[in-house]
Amino acid sequence: MSNDPLLQPYQLKHLTLRNRIIVTAHEPAYPQDGLPKERYRAYTVERAKGGVAMTMTAGSAAVSKDSPPVFNNLLAYKDEIVPWIREMTDAVHEEGAAIMIQLTHLGRRTRWDKGEWLPVVAPSHHREASHRAFPKKIEDWDIERIIKDFADAAERMKAGGMDGVELEAYGHLIDQFASPLTNELDGPYGGSLDNRMRFCFDVLKAIRARVGDDFILGVRYTADECLPGGTGKEEGLEISKRLKQSGLIDYLNVIRGHIDTDAGLTDVIPIQGMANSPHLDFAGEIRGATNFPTFHAAKIPDVATARHAIASGKVDMVGMTRAHMTDPHIVRKIIEKREEDIRPCVGANYCLDRIYQGGAAYCIHNAATGRELTMPHSIAKADRRKKVVIIGAGPAGLEAARVAGERGHEVVVFEAANDPGGQIRLTAQSERRREMISIIDWRMIQCEKLGVTFHFNSWAEADTVQAENPDVVIIATGGLPHTEVLSKGNELVVSAWDIISGDVKPGTNVLIFDDAGDHAGLQAAEFIAKAGGKVEIMTPDRSFAPEVMAMNLVPYMRSLQKLDVTFTVTYRLEAVEKSGNELVAHVGSDYGGIAKQRTFDQIVINHGTIPLDDLYFELKPASSNLGEVLHDQLIAGRPQTAWRNADGKFQLFRIGDAVAARNTHAAIYDALRLVKDI
Ligand SMILES: Cc1cc2nc3c(=O)[nH]c(=O)nc-3n(C[C@H](O)[C@H](O)[C@H](O)COP(=O)(O)O)c2cc1C
Ligand code: SF4
Repeated sequence: MSNDPLLQPYQLKHLTLRNRIIVTAHEPAYPQDGLPKERYRAYTVERAKGGVAMTMTAGSAAVSKDSPPVFNNLLAYKDEIVPWIREMTDAVHEEGAAIMIQLTHLGRRTRWDKGEWLPVVAPSHHREASHRAFPKKIEDWDIERIIKDFADAAERMKAGGMDGVELEAYGHLIDQFASPLTNELDGPYGGSLDNRMRFCFDVLKAIRARVGDDFILGVRYTADECLPGGTGKEEGLEISKRLKQSGLIDYLNVIRGHIDTDAGLTDVIPIQGMANSPHLDFAGEIRGATNFPTFHAAKIPDVATARHAIASGKVDMVGMTRAHMTDPHIVRKIIEKREEDIRPCVGANYCLDRIYQGGAAYCIHNAATGRELTMPHSIAKADRRKKVVIIGAGPAGLEAARVAGERGHEVVVFEAANDPGGQIRLTAQSERRREMISIIDWRMIQCEKLGVTFHFNSWAEADTVQAENPDVVIIATGGLPHTEVLSKGNELVVSAWDIISGDVKPGTNVLIFDDAGDHAGLQAAEFIAKAGGKVEIMTPDRSFAPEVMAMNLVPYMRSLQKLDVTFTVTYRLEAVEKSGNELVAHVGSDYGGIAKQRTFDQIVINHGTIPLDDLYFELKPASSNLGEVLHDQLIAGRPQTAWRNADGKFQLFRIGDAVAARNTHAAIYDALRLVKDI
């Protein structure tokens, strides 16, 4: 038996958890018709296979119809969910893990124009900034109905074989009752702490009466809203004690902060560039004061910090939620003493930001997550060893090299630069994006173990490639900044990359024209503003930086607003002219009728990349498939069989930005889904 604190079992009432690591509640937005069908099951079971002690499935499964599924939540109010839940719980239990589900009523944290178009309810009319709905002030019959809905949903979950349910209180209806900021009711549910807590306890009592004692019940709640006038730490501690003393629940799942704004949410769930485990000590204080089973998650991305969380007695179960989206097999690798093989969560928050835009959660550098039905987390060996030559060691090239290596192929990589990483090496120049480099470092470690040969500082020509006698050639050369977007004066502008790389000195009065709307524009703005330059970001779009998304925008805004960077939306830079030492920007608008002139001393363009594809087109005539990719085979996960040239000696493919400017996830997915079948 290992003496690793993380691998010790934990007794939670009647439930034995096989170790101390859990996946906390998270809605990856994979439900179909509000039900956890095959895709949802496959995703959940993969984590159970990987060894986690318990997976808290769903996040915020809705108990009522007026809790509309704002990020494609599971609908726990449907009777037909029970058989789907049963299939999932059976499959997870078979893998030796426990499974619970988080239930909620979102209260005002949703929108009325989803689901059944019912008005949203809350204990006051105050709207939540993030979701924007003005709620109806909840009535007595709403309260009765919702309490019953919770109990009905819990009963369904028990019938489906769940080990327990957790109530999502923080930021949702239960804590909207508890917080003085969102509760403007008179008694019996408003006013004193007793009254504000009444809804929570009524829900817990109703559930307990329905499910009995042999069913785990927990609450995930904020013990300090960190907001003036809100639930403070002292009251949070009192709430924690009352929850324990109620005898109705089996554990506390502690949150610190508030989630009504993007900024608040990002402090509760920190992203890259922010401190690790910022609320762990706080969770430890709650555990110390209550002496009650305590769970907690908030950017504990690595095994060392998780081990410390348990060994120091701060928590009983440690959540590694996004870490499991990046690598579902963390526990297995700890047991096998292969911690260095764990694919690291880099806090990119692509997963979470996507669900708030109505998309499904995907991990920036594990393209198999959420695609378990078609993409493998463990790569199978190929029947025949091939020679695979890859040009480019950015994220696409390195993923291709890793996967080809796992397939057992002989792999050779040519890279023009001194170091691997491509655009990621550049993006990691910003302190806040430094964690991104682990996407590259992890792949390099894996490739080394797999015997991949690297030639750095090597500009591969068609001859160099053909001299290797490859069976397969993969072009992953990426792209170069595309700045030729003006009707006049393209030679007068620089790219965002020029600024980030340090190749061009920042100006003092700078316009950044950003219609790519990704990180590069904001990174360049920060470099320039920090160097003392005055910066205006202009975009023809309706909002700036749409590709950066909500939570990723928070640290930028915290920095850029203080640096007085300004944002101009719905205007388009059309041309640039030189006038003495100044640059004159000709500005128009897609809406028409605008022709303005503005002067700057530097103009930066962020317009994505243009593929670096010369080598691809040189090699194309010598390849057997003439570069063709058969999409149906790619999508179905079958080997590529395009055959267009009888004299061709090798298959030729192109992936990532060498095809078209996209993002890191797209580049890595291109590589995985092609190479897993080579
Ligand atoms: C895609 C996604 C969806 C989430 N949805 C929920 C949710 O519905 N309810 C909840 O309590 N937490 C939710 N979370 C938060 C996680 O449970 C966890 O607290 C958070 O990710 C911080 O832990 P980590 O750093 O280990 O990922 C979600 C997280 C992610 C990544
Ligand atoms: S997208 Fe980023 S934060 Fe989310 S799981 Fe992947 S690496 Fe972690």
